[in-house]
Amino acid sequence: MKPPEIVFASKAMEILIDTSKRIARTSTPVLIEGESGTGKELIARLIHSLSDRRQRPFVPVNCGAVPETLFESEFFGYKAGAFTGAVRDKPGIFEAANGGTLFLDEIGDLSAAMQAKCLRVLQEHELRRVGDTRVSIVDVRFVSATNKKLEHEMRTGGFREDLFFRISVLRLGIEPLRERKEDIPVLCDHFSAKHALRLGKEAPELSGAVVSLFSDYDWPGNVRELENEIHRMVALSRDGARVTCVQVSPRILSSVKRGGEAGVGGRLKARLETCEKEIIMDALDKCGWNKSRTARHLGLSRQGLHRKLQKLRIQRYE
Ligand SMILES: Nc1ncnc2c1ncn2[C@@H]1O[C@H](COP(=O)(O)OP(=O)(O)OP(=O)(O)O)[C@@H](O)[C@H]1O
Ligand SMILES: [Mg+2]
Repeated sequence: MKPPEIVFASKAMEILIDTSKRIARTSTPVLIEGESGTGKELIARLIHSLSDRRQRPFVPVNCGAVPETLFESEFFGYKAGAFTGAVRDKPGIFEAANGGTLFLDEIGDLSAAMQAKCLRVLQEHELRRVGDTRVSIVDVRFVSATNKKLEHEMRTGGFREDLFFRISVLRLGIEPLRERKEDIPVLCDHFSAKHALRLGKEAPELSGAVVSLFSDYDWPGNVRELENEIHRMVALSRDGARVTCVQVSPRILSSVKRGGEAGVGGRLKARLETCEKEIIMDALDKCGWNKSRTARHLGLSRQGLHRKLQKLRIQRYE
């Protein structure tokens, strides 16, 4: 497996990537903690691709998606005849990852019974398929991920302490995107190029106002949300045209605006004005600078538009 492309500009990410590289060569279990969409799977893939196991499988499993009743046959496999429908021997997930890396995503979603069964494999490195008497040895590196606070789950009895200590010998925390806003501009360029290539388009340039608007937004869905936003913008963009605030999702615009009205300060106000200006200029362009049509298009009265043009000092050729 080739290392995935990871872009960043923040010190926090630099440290995280350095640490990941350093620990890649060991087989020590790693726990990656971070909010949804921060890049947990990406880091897991980086670790695998830089390890001596890179020629062997990387097996991702979403622990929350495996139903309790199927857990044992999925993870441990089964022997032919173990139950109705088990027509031939089948290896489970643990065996499929043999020699490689098993990525246990959302490990906090494992039920108590599933946790107990996983713990045994982590401790003994051996397992038995359902309906089998033979024990097989597996050599798997465990990389787990969670967006829950497992320490809290442990206190409330939702997560076993012994399993926690087994999976978390090494712990990596990924900061939410709002805590490392320096990454936003480089991520914007990266995703714009990535999705333009996929869509067979020219990568659009994002206006400075868009990038600074993005820096003021909180990104509850983190990098995944930013990627989706840019994907959408690239899909909607005209070839070669610059992307302006007009194309930003209303959800993001209004969330930043609400923050602004709560009194974040003058700098934000200035940025929002730049956005407003872009939106109005775009509408004017579309309507051939006909003021009445532009006002209608924007849902403003003619006087309302006139006031905005004065306030934002919008003139025809600038
Ligand atoms: N630093 C980065 N550079 C490039 N792409 C990134 C970066 N961080 C995240 N991504 C991309 O963002 C998306 C989300 O990342 P990933 O799936 O690794 O996050 P996650 O933490 O596992 O999310 P979830 O909790 O939703 O499963 C992916 O498409 C990934 O490639
Ligand atoms: Mg994930």
